[in-house]
Amino acid sequence: MEALAGQIGSCRKCALALSRTRTVPGEGPAPCRVMLIGEGPGKKEDESGRPFVGRAGAILSDLLARIGLSREDVFITSVVKCRPPANRTPGKGEIAACMPFLDRQIAVLSPAVLVPMGRVATSAIFSRYGVSFPSFREVRGRSVLVSEMETGREMRIVPVYHPAVITHNPPARAALEEDFMRLGEILADLH
Ligand code: URA
Repeated sequence: MEALAGQIGSCRKCALALSRTRTVPGEGPAPCRVMLIGEGPGKKEDESGRPFVGRAGAILSDLLARIGLSREDVFITSVVKCRPPANRTPGKGEIAACMPFLDRQIAVLSPAVLVPMGRVATSAIFSRYGVSFPSFREVRGRSVLVSEMETGREMRIVPVYHPAVITHNPPARAALEEDFMRLGEILADLH
């Protein structure tokens, strides 16, 4: 993982490299059981080089605590490892350029469950695994079985709302909490 973080740190494959302060490869246990995947680093993450340390991170820690997990129990990363300027949505080309890093992380960390957070991450992960994506609403909180790219190992994808959803849409809190409760149930069933 350290070698991979080094490669991410010197990556210049897309224009996000021009405006970033630091790359944010992600952090957590290796190997890991659960891998949470956000959209891309925000301002605080770009400054610190660590994932989900801003407002979304505080919400995420709270959601994890409700299902008996802490940040240290899960690997946390994003589909792009550099901050998009002004927190805009990462473009298709940027996601495609960064995807080999996520592929390698998944191969090395060997997670049982991938948890894309929000529509952008879910769409990127579903398309990477060749799973059709009708709409985010239809797949959130559900478990989809896929084969890991490099090893063929069985793995689940469980999309959830992005923790930051409640910062611009407070009534979405119930749906966000429901998704994490479902994730907790799915993880309990995997034991
Ligand atoms: N949102 C993300 O998707 N990733 C972060 O690291 C922070 C906020």
